[in-house]
Amino acid sequence: MSNTQDTIAILGGTGDQGLGLALRFCQAGRRVLIGSRKAERAVEAAENVRSQVPGAQVEGLGNEEATAGAGIVILSVPFEHTAGTLKTIKESLREGQIVVSMAVPLATAIGDGAVRTVGIWQGSAAELVASLVPKGVEVVSAFQNVSAHRLQHLGHPVECDVVVSGAKAAREAIMALCPLVDGLRALDGGPLSNARIVEELTALIIGLNIRHKAPDGLGIRFTGLPEGH
Ligand SMILES: NC(=O)c1ccc[n+]([C@@H]2O[C@H](COP(=O)([O-])OP(=O)(O)OC[C@H]3O[C@@H](n4cnc5c(N)ncnc54)[C@H](OP(=O)(O)O)[C@@H]3O)[C@@H](O)[C@H]2O)c1
Repeated sequence: MSNTQDTIAILGGTGDQGLGLALRFCQAGRRVLIGSRKAERAVEAAENVRSQVPGAQVEGLGNEEATAGAGIVILSVPFEHTAGTLKTIKESLREGQIVVSMAVPLATAIGDGAVRTVGIWQGSAAELVASLVPKGVEVVSAFQNVSAHRLQHLGHPVECDVVVSGAKAAREAIMALCPLVDGLRALDGGPLSNARIVEELTALIIGLNIRHKAPDGLGIRFTGLPEGH
């Protein structure tokens, strides 16, 4: 797969979570554009991916070029820089693209701790993103509960359910990405407004990681799903 619509841009893919996703999607044979505010950093991150995943279809670019070259754009910057990053890529976004919101509005954004969140006027970070993208661009919420350490630990299954929320067609497109990563399972999270619950779960998971001394990060699993779901 190498056409633009199937290409995945990961903005801030130079950081922990974005790099982890880039590694995993490249391992699954998908084309990935790593975006950064500084293209050189993205080029370096792409080299890192190539060194771990030989033959990876990956390129490092500035955030704007990465956005323009992909059908799916994953925002992988800290919550407090989400709106600012969206402003810088607004001209590159176009109708038909899907923007994935992965941000967790941790209270670290206001100098408080990572075990709680701050309230967002729109309801969630994902809905904030939806309020900022141009018309015709869909926003889907996903991957907030997935640990960066586990993603980066290639060769080990990530073992986490991914609750995916947003408009149906876009949500299904992102759900289809999850099984590309060993140990990720997509769950249909319904409308984007459910993102608030999923984002808050991450603050709980961070607290659990601390109290249970789990440096690789816990995952979540829902039980009881009928076969084939
Ligand atoms: N880490 C996890 O385990 C985890 C788990 C679940 C969800 N998440 C979510 O995933 C997202 C990324 O997390 P992360 O841990 O990978 O973050 P991070 O490593 O702290 O930062 C990711 C990237 O964001 C960019 N960035 C930093 N400061 C910025 C600024 N002032 N303006 C614009 N961009 C800036 C940087 O890219 P450049 O300098 O290259 O532009 C950086 O490499 C966050 O929204 C987080 O809530 C993380």
